[in-house]
Amino acid sequence: MVAFANMLINPTFWKTYFTSPHFTNDMIPDLTGKVAIVTGANGGVGYATTVALAAHGARVFMACRSEARAKEAMNKVRQEIKRDYPRYQGGVKLDFLELDLSDVTKVYQSAHTFLAEGLPLHILINNSGVAFSPVKQSADGLEYMFAVNHLGYVKYSQVPKCMGLTI
Ligand SMILES: NC(=O)c1ccc[n+]([C@@H]2O[C@H](COP(=O)([O-])OP(=O)(O)OC[C@H]3O[C@@H](n4cnc5c(N)ncnc54)[C@H](OP(=O)(O)O)[C@@H]3O)[C@@H](O)[C@H]2O)c1
Repeated sequence: MVAFANMLINPTFWKTYFTSPHFTNDMIPDLTGKVAIVTGANGGVGYATTVALAAHGARVFMACRSEARAKEAMNKVRQEIKRDYPRYQGGVKLDFLELDLSDVTKVYQSAHTFLAEGLPLHILINNSGVAFSPVKQSADGLEYMFAVNHLGYVKYSQVPKCMGLTI
């Protein structure tokens, strides 16, 4: 905590922060032909990541627990790409993939639904997560945040690897 405070009052930190080159979406190469899964793609960081990948040609599977929220986000992604990335507006490729990380059975179902498509997987963005969740248990009787933020991803990332897909 003290080290963090010292960093914030150090002028060199702010000079480096503001003057170093930052990553921007135009640094992303052409991703045509690449297949990605983004978890929690319907909002926040996952949504922004979906826009960035799809706008550069990737086919993005939006792994979300609510189909309605995912479909709503899909429409917004298409509109945003049409407005900001005219080069790719004809070829935006988005799919819904149901995923609830709080239930191991559903985690396996989601992975197997993807594997049934017979596609390669080039990019896996394990983004979904919960913070400051009230104390509760997952469907499998585990502490909820541990189940979603850790165990769900261990299982979700294992399945494609077990099936021979490299990520
Ligand atoms: N933003 C920050 O400043 C910050 C800082 C540190 C770490 N992070 C981490 O970065 C990630 C993204 O942050 P964010 O701000 O974009 O979060 P966010 O806006 O709260 O979005 C979280 C996403 O995770 C999904 N999600 C929640 N529980 C899920 C479950 N059981 N199964 C599947 N999906 C689930 C949510 O879906 P629903 O819409 O269905 O709820 C939502 O799409 C999170 O893991 C967060 O903990 C963020």
